[in-house]
Amino acid sequence: MSERIAVFASGSGTNLQALIDHFVGRDVAEIGLVISDREDADALERARSAGIPAHHIPVSSRPIAAVTADMVDALGAARTDIVALAGYLRLIPPDVIRRYSHRVLNIHPALLPAFGGKGMFGRRVHEAVLESGSRVTGPTVHFVNERYDEGRIIAQWPVPVLENDSPESLAERVLRAEHVLYPAAVEWLARVLAAAEGDDAAHAVSEAVPLPVSAHACFRLDEASAPDEAGIRRLFGVD
Ligand code: GRF
Repeated sequence: MSERIAVFASGSGTNLQALIDHFVGRDVAEIGLVISDREDADALERARSAGIPAHHIPVSSRPIAAVTADMVDALGAARTDIVALAGYLRLIPPDVIRRYSHRVLNIHPALLPAFGGKGMFGRRVHEAVLESGSRVTGPTVHFVNERYDEGRIIAQWPVPVLENDSPESLAERVLRAEHVLYPAAVEWLARVLAAAEGDDAAHAVSEAVPLPVSAHACFRLDEASAPDEAGIRRLFGVD
């Protein structure tokens, strides 16, 4: 049975696009809904262009109960199994997290637990990495809880920081890795949940995490512009 994914995005939605492109023609999962807190988010336009229902659910100045109710209704109507945050800049309401326990993923553009937390998004993350003098950064995929960037980590992909990097050049290199890592991680979760056939998601996920192969097997630090796509797919056991 195909797992149904809802993607939450606030911005340009290049990760959403990577997910859309990845799941076209794959039986394991499909994207059934895109939600944004911003009416003008490019992500909503990308969803509409792909024929995916796109909802604007405003968050600012609204009671959390109203936001929660809108999200629960939209996710329920779309028969959502998995929620993938892709550049969504708001906290997910606790009741939504509880309903979709072990089914909500996020991608962050640095190696958590470093360079994460409230206010650490976009350019600020990459500036902080450069200021720290780190020679390595890269995306992290993790489960989502009630706090920013704190749920259990399921995958990371190291990306080198180069001598003359600007926040923009670094963001671009990390984003290229995100576009491969995130679809593979979301597909991995879809397969774990599908194999559990309605059993407890928490149990299925804890049996499957940590992954048997280290993510570190999937990159070479000197390959600044060539992520090892085959390696990352092998890590997750997906094609
Ligand atoms: C990405 O860097 C992602 O890691 C972070 O927000 C950014 C979203 O970019 N959570 P895009 O909207 O997918 O292009």
